[in-house]
Amino acid sequence: MQVDEGINSVSYQSCPMNGGDGPNSYSNNSNYQRRLIEASKDLINEAIHDKLEIDSSCVNGSKPFGIADLGCSVGQNTFIAVQNIIEAVEKEYKAKNESNSPVLEFQVFFNDHSNNDFNSLFRSVPYSSRNYYAAAVAGSFYGRLFPNSTLHFVNCSCAVHWMSKVPTEVLDRESLAWNGNRIHYTTSSEKVYEAYAAQYKNDLECFLSVRAQELVGGGLMLIVVPGQSSHLVSQTPRATTTWLLESCLLEMVKMGSISQKQVDEFNIPIYFPTLKDMEEITKNNGNFRVERMGIVRGKGYIKPSVEFLVGSMRAVMEEILKQHFGDEVIEDLFERYAKKVAQNLDSFYTKFREYEDLFVILKRKMN
Ligand SMILES: C[S@@+](CC[C@H](N)C(=O)[O-])C[C@H]1O[C@@H](n2cnc3c(N)ncnc32)[C@H](O)[C@@H]1O
Repeated sequence: MQVDEGINSVSYQSCPMNGGDGPNSYSNNSNYQRRLIEASKDLINEAIHDKLEIDSSCVNGSKPFGIADLGCSVGQNTFIAVQNIIEAVEKEYKAKNESNSPVLEFQVFFNDHSNNDFNSLFRSVPYSSRNYYAAAVAGSFYGRLFPNSTLHFVNCSCAVHWMSKVPTEVLDRESLAWNGNRIHYTTSSEKVYEAYAAQYKNDLECFLSVRAQELVGGGLMLIVVPGQSSHLVSQTPRATTTWLLESCLLEMVKMGSISQKQVDEFNIPIYFPTLKDMEEITKNNGNFRVERMGIVRGKGYIKPSVEFLVGSMRAVMEEILKQHFGDEVIEDLFERYAKKVAQNLDSFYTKFREYEDLFVILKRKMN
């Protein structure tokens, strides 16, 4: 597993999405995430209109307005999110200031792990329409990324379900939470679920405490995260995709192309929080006020095709699978996966509607 070292010398696991703009790239297979960003536009407009104190000392045109998109990946999604934020801030700034007030400048930081394809990302910045200064900030968002009180708006869309690491217990054969023969908590026991939930709680607390230092008092943060409606893992609609992937890997063990040990030692470092998880963790952090929290749904319903489901999975999971099982097994794995998705397509139609994506809008309290 590749790691990213933070400024505090802590190492964080890193699993980038597929870079470039080829057929398996994240850029070309992130429509689901795109629809969530589009759906978040109204949340951003409302939060900035109602909650951002434009005329206060923190947003007054004397300093650039700092925006960070954490877990930006590659492709257009991040630019859409950033543009939505800038448009909303500009509108409020104009409405609340005289026409001869200083022009508000924007500094945008695109953050992801250092092995994200930042070259592709910066090649696709919409330079002709861009009205902000753009910079890349490489490193894990579970550590400090920015100096104290330098950000006014933090966006984090479809990224904070990636944990900082696989919980150690699930890799320990002596532990009740050992997850041999399984690759995720959604296909496993309550003990494994508990280990993931505890790791997630720890990670999200770290995430909030470092952001509290980086955001100005009164600054806002929007988190959108793929979630689950119930902690009962067997009822999680997202379990279907993991279960199919897992059954392909177990077939490949039988064929001898990968080993049982490799499967036993592989776990996906992703947790889908419930609203209750988010409520508890965010409310416990005394630095933020929870302004709004709920479920966000992409506009319209896309009936998922095999191509869509396999492409979305491959763009996100290929790198982590390659890191663990090796390049040479990837084609075989995704051919098997495509066949299983095709055989189970009907169940995806219903499960897909049940996906729950959560949002929370936080406001940094004044010190
Ligand atoms: C599914 S992509 C989402 C990209 C984009 N925000 C969107 O909505 O389309 C998740 C991104 O989060 C990044 N990520 C995951 N954990 C991270 C961490 N600890 N620090 C920084 N980036 C992280 C991944 O590398 C990946 O690029």
